[in-house]
Amino acid sequence: MCGIIGYVGDKEAVPILMDGLKRLEYRGYDSAGIVVIDACGEVRMMKREGKLKVLEDGLAEHGLRGTLGLGHTRWATHGSPSEVNAHPHFSSDGEIAVVHNGIIENFLELRAELEGKGHTFASETDTEVIVRLVEEALKGGAPDLEAAVRASLRKLKGQYAVGLLRRKEPDKIVAARLDSPLIVGLGDGENYIASDVPAILNRTRKVIYLENEEIAVVTADGCRVTDIEGNETVREVKEITWDIDAAEKGGYEKFMLKEIHEQPQAVSKTIMGRISTDGKEILMGDLNVTPEEIRGLRKIFIISCGTAFYASNIGRYLLEHYTNIAVEVDFSSEFRYRNPKLSKQTLVMTVTQSGETADTIASLRMAKEKGCKVISVVNVVGSTIDRESDGVIYTRAGPEIGVASTKAYTAQLAALFLFTLWVGRMRGEIDDGRFRELVDELQRIPAKVERVLEKERHIRSVAEKYYRATNAFFLGRGFNFPNAMEGALKLKEISYMHAEGYAAGEMKHGPIALIDEHFPVVCICTGANKYDKMLSNIKEVQARKGRIIAIATEGDDRVKDIADDVIYVPETVEPLSPLINVVPLQLFAYYIALERGCDIDKPRNLAKSVTVE
Ligand code: G6P
Repeated sequence: MCGIIGYVGDKEAVPILMDGLKRLEYRGYDSAGIVVIDACGEVRMMKREGKLKVLEDGLAEHGLRGTLGLGHTRWATHGSPSEVNAHPHFSSDGEIAVVHNGIIENFLELRAELEGKGHTFASETDTEVIVRLVEEALKGGAPDLEAAVRASLRKLKGQYAVGLLRRKEPDKIVAARLDSPLIVGLGDGENYIASDVPAILNRTRKVIYLENEEIAVVTADGCRVTDIEGNETVREVKEITWDIDAAEKGGYEKFMLKEIHEQPQAVSKTIMGRISTDGKEILMGDLNVTPEEIRGLRKIFIISCGTAFYASNIGRYLLEHYTNIAVEVDFSSEFRYRNPKLSKQTLVMTVTQSGETADTIASLRMAKEKGCKVISVVNVVGSTIDRESDGVIYTRAGPEIGVASTKAYTAQLAALFLFTLWVGRMRGEIDDGRFRELVDELQRIPAKVERVLEKERHIRSVAEKYYRATNAFFLGRGFNFPNAMEGALKLKEISYMHAEGYAAGEMKHGPIALIDEHFPVVCICTGANKYDKMLSNIKEVQARKGRIIAIATEGDDRVKDIADDVIYVPETVEPLSPLINVVPLQLFAYYIALERGCDIDKPRNLAKSVTVE
């Protein structure tokens, strides 16, 4: 996600800010900007679309000088990647600047309110409302920037880490956070703010981690932290002992592990703002399809590759379960060369993390040529598929660096679930009571994923038992059949162990011939509906001496007697269970690959984004 850096001291701020931004580059970004208060006390800024080099060239040409400033790299969420949407954003008089990481859920309401007060907005971002609220608070009598920020934060719903500066208070940066990371770095006669430790690790190892809804006023001499009410809080100064490589990964050994742990946030960000405040509707933004078109739909094709293909298959189960629409899923590389029967009553969806996968782009274009509307589930805002689709549902997983997809997958599942509810509601196929239950349960998923992550040590110990195997099966039924295939894909991608995902009921039609006492079989047996059938399938494996690793619901004692190892997960409704069940599969694959000494973040022969056919 976006990167923030701020500096106040006696040195030239710009080189320090640029250096900090470069150290945050690994987070991914599409534009960048810098703002300083210069020697004449004026607020001066520069922002550019594209790589930091473009900003750097601009700075070399025009120069910005000053000893207090903020820098930002933007990963687009609201509004396309462009210079005007790049941060910083400003008050109407240009005297207050803000940089922001996060999502302001109620920004449309706030924007309308501010427009009513005469504000005109330069950008499409949610961020700009923050600085305009601060401006209004100052106009309304707030004594200083800190008080105005405090008043404004109370109006924001969503997640934020912000840094602000003001021409009239040229010695301070005001920073605050809610559910997006922000730290204060303490130097000698100079201090920093940053969204992440690596941005400042070469300058100081003394860091304060701000807590939610805390506000820091940072000057060259110190930092005062208060809560949202204005009460001073005492925060421990932590000494960072990690090296830079570990710091980039947030202290995790690999990006993949970091991203596995980011899944609760990826899912909650994807849900955020998409359930109406009265809990009765799904808000999908403008998908560019009319309610009549949705009601008249006969068929949905979901097209994708790799991990996104397995998410798409779960999307099919969801849409078939809750609506009366026929759904077909295909690999992009097949769909584009088939002769699928597409009509005006067919909707085509693509699912993609990068938005740049060549076969998926070609499939989208083919569908459009044949007159179909295309809606895409996309993680990268501004990507080709984002731009060329008729409507887009963004997964807000943030940049995914590990080649093996993890958090993008769970975010795709959340987005497809929301889409299904949206379609079902519009067609009158999901009643109020059921809708309410499903929405409530969806909102509980991030906390349940968190609980699975707490089992990491146990999952690791299971992986350590099986890492020498040469083959593995992953079995599931229903919603968890595609999830089993995703589990197998994770294992083969990063550990190079041969693995296949199967529909459990298919085992006896061939694959079971391979089972012997050396063969681990991971069985997803959480689904209440097919539980007994799943248990019979496991027994078939057990009878051939296969080694059974069960993913089971907490409290399920029956499975213990059959399985060699059980990984328990929290209970949920079956259609949402893939979001929870995939987490132990990802960790299992991760720790097997670690034991096998593989290059987990960059597996051999694989690319993060396959932009050629
Ligand atoms: C590559 C990546 C996979 C990804 C697939 C589809 O194979 O290694 O992790 O699932 O492409 O990518 P997309 O960006 O379209 O989701």
